Amino acid sequence: MQLYRPLSHALAPGCERTSWYELDRDNTQLILHRAGVTLQPDEHPTVIDTWKEMEKLVDTGKVKSIGVSNFSIKILSQLLPHCKIIPAINQVEMHPCLPQTGLKSFCEERGILLTAYSPLGRPPVTTNTATTIPILLAEPALLTIAEKHSVAPAQVLVNWAVQRHTIVVPKSEDEGRMKANITLVKLDDEDMNALDTLHERPEMHRSLLSYHGTGGVVFGWTYESMGWDMKPGGIVA
Ligand SMILES: NC(=O)c1ccc[n+]([C@@H]2O[C@H](COP(=O)([O-])OP(=O)(O)OC[C@H]3O[C@@H](n4cnc5c(N)ncnc54)[C@H](OP(=O)(O)O)[C@@H]3O)[C@@H](O)[C@H]2O)c1
Repeated sequence: MQLYRPLSHALAPGCERTSWYELDRDNTQLILHRAGVTLQPDEHPTVIDTWKEMEKLVDTGKVKSIGVSNFSIKILSQLLPHCKIIPAINQVEMHPCLPQTGLKSFCEERGILLTAYSPLGRPPVTTNTATTIPILLAEPALLTIAEKHSVAPAQVLVNWAVQRHTIVVPKSEDEGRMKANITLVKLDDEDMNALDTLHERPEMHRSLLSYHGTGGVVFGWTYESMGWDMKPGGIVA
């Protein structure tokens, strides 16, 4: 079983308010250590303390793999020298508006698989919601590629991620969309280039999630602490 609700920062003896403790503890395929959320970077247990506890879980044989989520190059660089086990994956927001190119190279060089969360840009449930966040699924360049291959725009986004050799976890509660989202379509170089360069347009290199707010703080940490090179609102600086 893969756990998509990542562990909080506080997996340590006595800290039982974490999702792993609510699970079948003898048969967990993958747990993720998520940056931010509960404690500040210098508070104990630190990211490194937490990782060491997670490594012990692998030693028990009850957990197969351990990984991280929302870890930047900055946080990974602090963690990796202390790792007995290298994180199997790093799950981060990733789609054509936030291709995470630098982080992708960094992780690939170290054998860490990058997983794309919110790969469809988490489209708003209702279009009536006033928002300045672009709707990726409505991007004309994407619609053109989808029409060319007679598939849904979401399928194009999933395949862009697959063809970049990343793992991708689109979410749907609709059975038909679930099936469509795992149906592969071969994108050609022209398609890939159009998607690879979409973020180069003004104001398009950004997070598409609403958790940023205006204060430059995300999951309780500043962008600087997270190692995210962003301006308030999630725009890449
Ligand atoms: N580690 C982290 O910090 C973190 C943060 C955010 C998300 N995640 C994980 O990443 C996964 C996906 O992310 P997400 O839910 O934020 O965003 P997402 O997968 O980009 O978008 C999900 C939305 O897209 C819609 N959708 C799915 N397939 C579609 C299709 N073929 N056409 C049109 N709309 C479609 C879904 O609606 P329907 O259900 O109506 O299809 C749902 O509203 C989740 O499992 C989530 O737990 C992890």
